Amino acid sequence: MSDSGTLTKTDLVALTGVNKHFGELHVLKDINLSIAKGEVVVVIGPSGSGKSTLCRAINRLEPIDEGTITLDGQPLPSEGKALAKLRADVGMVFQSFNLFAHKTILQNVTLGPCKVRKTDPKVAEQRAMELLERVGVANQAAKFPAQLSGGQQQRVAIARALAMDPKVILFDEPTSALDPEMIQEVLEVMIDLAKQGMTMVVVTHEMGFARTAANRVVFMADGEIVEQASPEEFFTNPTSRRAQDFLGKILKH
Ligand SMILES: Nc1ncnc2c1ncn2[C@@H]1O[C@H](COP(=O)(O)OP(=O)(O)OP(=O)(O)O)[C@@H](O)[C@H]1O
Ligand SMILES: [Mg+2]
Repeated sequence: MSDSGTLTKTDLVALTGVNKHFGELHVLKDINLSIAKGEVVVVIGPSGSGKSTLCRAINRLEPIDEGTITLDGQPLPSEGKALAKLRADVGMVFQSFNLFAHKTILQNVTLGPCKVRKTDPKVAEQRAMELLERVGVANQAAKFPAQLSGGQQQRVAIARALAMDPKVILFDEPTSALDPEMIQEVLEVMIDLAKQGMTMVVVTHEMGFARTAANRVVFMADGEIVEQASPEEFFTNPTSRRAQDFLGKILKH
């Protein structure tokens, strides 16, 4: 895959000089971050540091005040069909699953492709069943979300994101709402995706996942990217005081 003639290599997502305020609060401070195709970036940092806002800015659930964000070299569209296309290209998996309660598991996965991608329903169903198989919940296809465990629902949410053939998937604390015994089954699906070359931005406190699957760890505090490094480097030798303090706290658990 060579994008010859450009200097941008294969950066899939690029944030340049991004600033965002909520009223007086400066939540994203001059963020510069490039994510290469196939890269897995884990974002960590204290509560309120801007991790969710960063994710939401990348699929334009939050507009930014200043700077640029590009996907595949194109600035993020702000409205209309182009925005719907962007949302399809940037998958998102939230802490709270966000499945449609009144739709079956299968319908949850086929809805996006049928509506947004205009995929033939039969084709969408077949693909959805393959994806549900891949995340280990094919036998739940006819049920409704409330009939599934949290871990199963989150795996459905991942299958739903995959059904759109996204260029990148953003995960915002995908395991934080899960009972401990269900965390691993979701992380395993994510580790598999990472191995298969999916571009992923993952906000998580699961340091084991970061060590296993991340190419890079980005540490945020107070709206800034304070440091970034390979997991190996970051965990053994964090350079900033704030990262040292943060790791000291979470690694004690
Ligand atoms: N819609 C909003 N309106 C006003 N302030 C907001 C809004 N969303 C977030 N904030 C504030 O912006 C800051 C960053 O929030 P954000 O949710 O991005 O942090 P976070 O790093 O994801 O935190 P956590 O680890 O708790 O999820 C926080 O101070 C938060 O209170
Ligand atoms: Mg958050």
